[in-house]
Amino acid sequence: MLPFVLERQSGKGDDYISMIWRDGEQIWGEQFDVDDVLTAATFVFAAGSETTAAGVANGLYLLLSQPELQERVRGGGERAVKHLVEETLRLVGPVEYRPRRAKRDVTVGHVQIRKGEQVFALTACANRDPAHYERPNEVDIDRRSPRDHFAFFVGPRTCPGQNFARLQMEVVLSAALERLRNLRLDPSGPPPQFAGMLLRRWEPLHALFTGTARAT
Ligand code: HEM
Repeated sequence: MLPFVLERQSGKGDDYISMIWRDGEQIWGEQFDVDDVLTAATFVFAAGSETTAAGVANGLYLLLSQPELQERVRGGGERAVKHLVEETLRLVGPVEYRPRRAKRDVTVGHVQIRKGEQVFALTACANRDPAHYERPNEVDIDRRSPRDHFAFFVGPRTCPGQNFARLQMEVVLSAALERLRNLRLDPSGPPPQFAGMLLRRWEPLHALFTGTARAT
């Protein structure tokens, strides 16, 4: 990462690292240096890379494990791909929980939380709440409010890269659907498992498919 940070020190580019160099003084004061920029750039890279890779893998898993879904999404065009991305995030989102510390006494549902207590909000659980979602465990690409989930959490610290993540997932999943037919899990490979705690992803994904003319 350091060479990329040093290369952009003039702050003249329109990329994220150049922007941090440009705004550094405003963020940290005039004493800011290369370590501040390096830390900020590394943090965003770490927050945005493995998470998105896991999101893509989890979307591919839904397509591989439910082959009938492939035709439904192909038939629904761009809108259906967007909804598939949201259903992936809702059902098998890469981030399962977020910690928070209560700033005041509060009651959530039937649970009393006191000021100062730490809470682990299980987003994966809320995303399958049967009181909120019809057929919560199914992929439904026709849900009326597809973005109504907690995959990126909520509030002032919600994920700032969420639209970029959505776009990347859409691009990869559309390309897979367009170029690869008859996608399915390879029964001779080890079966995938939903692994990980901080970051959850279906792996390994051994797949079989038929390439279209464009793929070859
Ligand atoms: C599918 C992909 C992604 C998922 C599931 C995801 C999920 C999350 C979640 C749950 C949080 C915590 C929010 C909170 O506690 O309120 C978060 C924070 C963050 N995300 Fe993402 N994210 C993804 C992709 C990205 C991308 C592509 C970027 C940037 C390019 C990014 C940058 C960040 C940053 C910088 C934070 C920290 C925000 C803060 O603490 O103020 N994320 N993300």
